[in-house]
Amino acid sequence: MSQPALTAIPQYIVSTSDYQQQARHHLDDNAWHYLVGGAGDEITANANESTFQQYLLNTKVLSDVRGGHTQLSLFGRHYQHPIFLAPVAYQTLFHPQGERATALAAHVMNTPFTVSSLSSTLLEDIRSEDEQALWFQLYFQAERQQTLSLVERAELLGYQVLVVTVDAPLAGIRNREQRMGFQLPSHVHAVNLTRSSGEASHHQSDSFVFNQLMANAPTWDDIEWLLSVSRLPMVIKGILSPEDAEKAISVGVAGIVVSNHGGRILDGVLPSLAALPDIIKTVNGRVPVLLDGGMRRGGDVFKALALGASAVFIGRPYIYALASAGALGVAHLIRTLCEELEVTMALCGCRDLSAITRACVLKKGEADV
Ligand SMILES: Cc1cc2nc3c(=O)[nH]c(=O)nc-3n(C[C@H](O)[C@H](O)[C@H](O)COP(=O)(O)O)c2cc1C
Repeated sequence: MSQPALTAIPQYIVSTSDYQQQARHHLDDNAWHYLVGGAGDEITANANESTFQQYLLNTKVLSDVRGGHTQLSLFGRHYQHPIFLAPVAYQTLFHPQGERATALAAHVMNTPFTVSSLSSTLLEDIRSEDEQALWFQLYFQAERQQTLSLVERAELLGYQVLVVTVDAPLAGIRNREQRMGFQLPSHVHAVNLTRSSGEASHHQSDSFVFNQLMANAPTWDDIEWLLSVSRLPMVIKGILSPEDAEKAISVGVAGIVVSNHGGRILDGVLPSLAALPDIIKTVNGRVPVLLDGGMRRGGDVFKALALGASAVFIGRPYIYALASAGALGVAHLIRTLCEELEVTMALCGCRDLSAITRACVLKKGEADV
């Protein structure tokens, strides 16, 4: 039996990995494996984390960092720190208050929260605070009209940035979930979506993947259409190659998220940190590039920024905290990561985010270890 969430943070919880261990006590097997798992053999999911160890921090002693801060401006708005909350589906699976608890913590911590298309709470019920930084993550729906009404709803409600996820036109083969017969409980579902009206026509000889799963998958034409009908800044999430980054800029996106969806869709792709440097080179400052995947420490965030990311998203870490202690846990986790980032900046001689450059990290092999 899983235990109810904590109502206070015990002294022994001081890091993401502590929250991960704690979360196991509060989730049943179904929710746990859905959360931690990745596609296939989970090689990419694991490599997302381990790739951060290929980079080492380059300290800079005796630096005067008084007056330092972690603030940044992005898409015309000001943020206190560069650690944002990634879209994660079905959050009432992990805590009874689900997305509401996450939004509350995000508000308290001045953290943008990207609400998933697969949110288990109505968009209307998440947005309660004025000036709260809420972004909306879009999955294209089977029909453009359905997609448009979702986007218009988010715009009307004051969601500020549209994050369009393009790396998951199908769910991916998650063997861990298959082995345990993962199912969403009946009370958890995508309450903001209408069920698709039409099924793709299908003949016995058709490929299930190409002609059914991918029947309504978006293409670059859909991105161009969406850009023409939405007035929100659009960020494209799930880019792993310089070629796709170039294409995204050429159609006019406002930003790029380098991501492999936490290794949940296709096993064997590049860990996101490994994909970052070449994309940064190609983008060459034309739009902000964000990163997600595998960050578990403020020091990891620092490394991502040093390799050129403007900001980062965390996914599983805040859900571990949500499952452990609801809004309180999420707020505490964000504060913990921010403190770790600040300590790393101070000891590496960086007074603000602009001081975090490629010279602040050493790649193993470049360094003598
Ligand atoms: C349980 C779970 C559900 C997710 N749901 C979504 C989603 O609905 N939309 C989306 O764009 N990404 C989704 N993601 C991917 C995250 O946004 C993010 O890319 C990933 O979690 C980052 O890796 P990390 O978990 O190592 O931080 C999900 C990830 C997890 C773990």
